[in-house]
Amino acid sequence: MTHEKVALAFSGGLDTTVCVPLLEEEYGYDEVIGVTVDVGQPSEEFDEAHETTEALGLDHYVVDAREEFAALCLDAVRANATYQGYPLGTALARPVIAKAILSVAEEHDCTGIAHGCTGKGNDQLRFEAVWRDSDLEVVAPVRELGLTREWEQEYAAERDLPVEGGDGGAYSIDTNLWSRSVEGSELEEPGYVPGEDIYAWTSAPTGETEEIEIEFEEGYPVGLNGESVDAVELIETLNDVAGSYGVGRTDVMEDRMLGLKVRENYEHPAATTLLNAHEALESLVLTQEERMFKTRIDQEWAEKGYQGLVDVPLVRALEGFIDETQERVTGTVTVRLEGGQARPVGRTSPYAVYSAEAASFNTADVIGGIEQKDATGVAKYHGFQERLSNEVAEAANAGQPLADGGPDDE
Ligand code: ARG
Repeated sequence: MTHEKVALAFSGGLDTTVCVPLLEEEYGYDEVIGVTVDVGQPSEEFDEAHETTEALGLDHYVVDAREEFAALCLDAVRANATYQGYPLGTALARPVIAKAILSVAEEHDCTGIAHGCTGKGNDQLRFEAVWRDSDLEVVAPVRELGLTREWEQEYAAERDLPVEGGDGGAYSIDTNLWSRSVEGSELEEPGYVPGEDIYAWTSAPTGETEEIEIEFEEGYPVGLNGESVDAVELIETLNDVAGSYGVGRTDVMEDRMLGLKVRENYEHPAATTLLNAHEALESLVLTQEERMFKTRIDQEWAEKGYQGLVDVPLVRALEGFIDETQERVTGTVTVRLEGGQARPVGRTSPYAVYSAEAASFNTADVIGGIEQKDATGVAKYHGFQERLSNEVAEAANAGQPLADGGPDDE
């Protein structure tokens, strides 16, 4: 008789806890192992996951994926990535978590791999996009058995499952290095105005301000106030510092992949600070056309990021363009933290596409022998087609189609 083992993505919350007996009883597994992946959650979450697995008698594995996740967050900075105002913390963490769990499952000869996601959200899709690339049976008890939160609560009580801790609160919260998201309960009412109690990373803005300096190399933030910092440390520090000025709160009606709209509240002080600083530096070093075109590349990147599909041909192609542009995104940005904002107030770079002399009001020359009066011809042409179109329309409406000639300027 074979011993069938399943690896469960384990958070210690209600959904994943009720999955344990269900995987044995409803799906016939002989053993469940719990895997928790560290993408920067608060330490209490690991304690709780550990206590729960102990109480349930499961083997529990914790994988530290903070560095890998932080590196992906910085790739997102290079792509100025947000989806409907949300910097993608949960979304980007999912493929990292999924890969880590898959490795543990394979290492321990599991035949199945399971998550506790519902059939309504994005995470089921993000996890399974990674897992379905393996031979393991993918199991999603909450979705497949059509479980509701109420049913889970009753079941947990009946079975005396250890679920006190994390699900005691009214909200559903997902935290990692890049963002903290809060949903559920009265927040499900789009008109409900949340109080300060939903926030944990950001303080209500005060009148205080602080300026910080962020150094970038090829689009990656690598230094803070003159000191080099690694990605994890930089993100953690900025969450603290910028969070204390109330930076990085968003309240959005988010369109999920399946089409449902959901009200989400997020906190992401480091993400907002780094994204704003990065864009400020790009505005200095990229050409006008590069900037405009890159917004389209960035949007595609963000959409794939939202879908949890970061390791796909399109993203690799987009990153080819991003890499090419980021070669010059090196320099320093001064950011003022004040009143819930992280506002770039200064930027310098050896690659600045900027000539103070050329743009100045105090010199007649532009640059390279171009004089102000050379713009006269350009000014005459500017808007030509639009003027012509208006005239043609006017004439046609009056029943007198315009003969050859074009708009009379004078
Ligand atoms: N809606 C977001 C996303 O799909 C985040 C969901 C986070 N989950 C939570 N329980 N708050 O990326």
